[in-house]
Amino acid sequence: MPVAFRSSKSSHFPRFILKSFIFIALFSLIVLVLYKVAEHVESIASQIKTVAGHNLKPTPWHRFPQKTFDDESRFGQASKIIRCSYLMKCSSSRRPVPKKWHLREGQGQCPDFFRWIHHDLEPWSMTKISTTHLMKAKKFAAFRVVIVDGRLYTEFYHDCFQTRAMFTIWGLLQLLKRYPGHIPDVDLMFDCMDKPFIERDKHRAMPLPLFRYCTTPQHFDIPFPDWSFWGWPETNIQHWDKQFKDIKQGSQAVTWIDRLAFAYWKGNPDTGSPARSELLHCNDTLKWGAQILRQNWAAEAEAGFKDSNLSNQCKHRYKIYAEGYAWSVSLKYILSCGSTTLMIAPKYEDFFTRGLMPKDSYWPIPPTEFCPAIKFAVDWGNGNTAAAEAIGQRAQQLMETLTMDRVYDYMFHLLSEYSSLQDFKPAPPPSAFEVCESSLLCFANQIQTKFLKNSAASPSPNPPFKIPPHDPALIDSWIKQKTENINEVENMRQVNPGQPQH
Ligand SMILES: *[C@@H]1O[C@H](CO)[C@@H](O)[C@H](O)[C@H]1NC(C)=O
Ligand SMILES: *[C@@H]1O[C@H](CO)[C@@H](O)[C@H](O)[C@H]1NC(C)=O
Repeated sequence: MPVAFRSSKSSHFPRFILKSFIFIALFSLIVLVLYKVAEHVESIASQIKTVAGHNLKPTPWHRFPQKTFDDESRFGQASKIIRCSYLMKCSSSRRPVPKKWHLREGQGQCPDFFRWIHHDLEPWSMTKISTTHLMKAKKFAAFRVVIVDGRLYTEFYHDCFQTRAMFTIWGLLQLLKRYPGHIPDVDLMFDCMDKPFIERDKHRAMPLPLFRYCTTPQHFDIPFPDWSFWGWPETNIQHWDKQFKDIKQGSQAVTWIDRLAFAYWKGNPDTGSPARSELLHCNDTLKWGAQILRQNWAAEAEAGFKDSNLSNQCKHRYKIYAEGYAWSVSLKYILSCGSTTLMIAPKYEDFFTRGLMPKDSYWPIPPTEFCPAIKFAVDWGNGNTAAAEAIGQRAQQLMETLTMDRVYDYMFHLLSEYSSLQDFKPAPPPSAFEVCESSLLCFANQIQTKFLKNSAASPSPNPPFKIPPHDPALIDSWIKQKTENINEVENMRQVNPGQPQH
């Protein structure tokens, strides 16, 4: 018995050690494998550039603070990138069946300013757009969009400020959803930052096609509706249809004549815009007829955007528009108020502002010494209330016709015309990722998701409105008319300059 006991004990002891050893070895192996897997996942994820801005640096031509994604652990973030990029089932591989449209008599016609699409694409009407054009434009692009068979692929080169890329790509996905099977194959380069880049003088020999949110008469950049039409979560601005409705409703609270009889501006004066910093000097309702208020977006966000609600800002007869670093998304909200817009000579144009006419839909203010010009405009309006109110009315009506339906139509016609100029068949590059609603939403946080879903489109029962034909002479006549109207207002002021009251 003791012998047996001893022998049993002596054989038990090493077996226990052996078991423990195997257990520890297996455990270490599993930990090692998990660690290696995690390392591998992280290293794959660190190569993937995403619509949310992962693994991207801000555009070198317009720097802004690098995004941080510190709401998650490194591994959590890496697995999210892998999950959203690879595991989201985008759609079947079938090409969407084009919805049959019933072309009815009297199908709507797009607003006249859609003619600018022809003007913007004119530089390539003879040469066509080749892959060489694209590869040269790539140097100036933050991302590339390739649409093939109704599916959208992206290649990201640089990060975009805030959620511009996410909301712009979302807008394109909604366009595909609105007109399934009707969006032609395109391959295009997009820069999401503010300033146009492709100067006509410098690139005359080879114009480069680059989409962005604005342009100027001296640039080839092709204007495209900006992200805010689908909402701007960082400033709590809703998608355009909803935001316009809110502002219009707010504007009905006080009739034009009962509004405060001076001009109003509220915004961020620190955008590097000379017009905005100079505007601060006009802040005197008696002397210059203007009230200039500073918008502090960080503080507003903290306070729940109580003081930046656009629908409560239609209380003045006159609203001032001043460009920011380039064009400003604020213009459409200002024009929606029904107040008379005093527009400080803009340098930049976005896709719809070319439909505005000075003296008709806004009052032009010269680019320099504008405090006296604002004062003159306010005095003129208060002495000619019917005419001043009518300017505000026409602007509001113009914005009312610019529904999201028309924004999609603009995108549709622009992409269709662009596509007809391509001399190659677009195909997604090997490094591109397909993006669809579910994969984009996968990257969005809770607030972004809410804004995105609120602006979702649905298939249109009707075809797009028709684009008016190319008419360069008409566009030239508009340009001439604009100059004449601006000069006319300037002459009025020279004859009867606004006197500051002391
Ligand atoms: C403009 O003047 C008003 C009233 O005097 C003042 O409350 C406001 O802070 C001024 N705006 C700026 C941007 O300084
Ligand atoms: C702004 O105010 C209006 C009316 O007071 C309200 O209906 C709307 O929801 C507000 N918008 C936001 C974004 O808070």
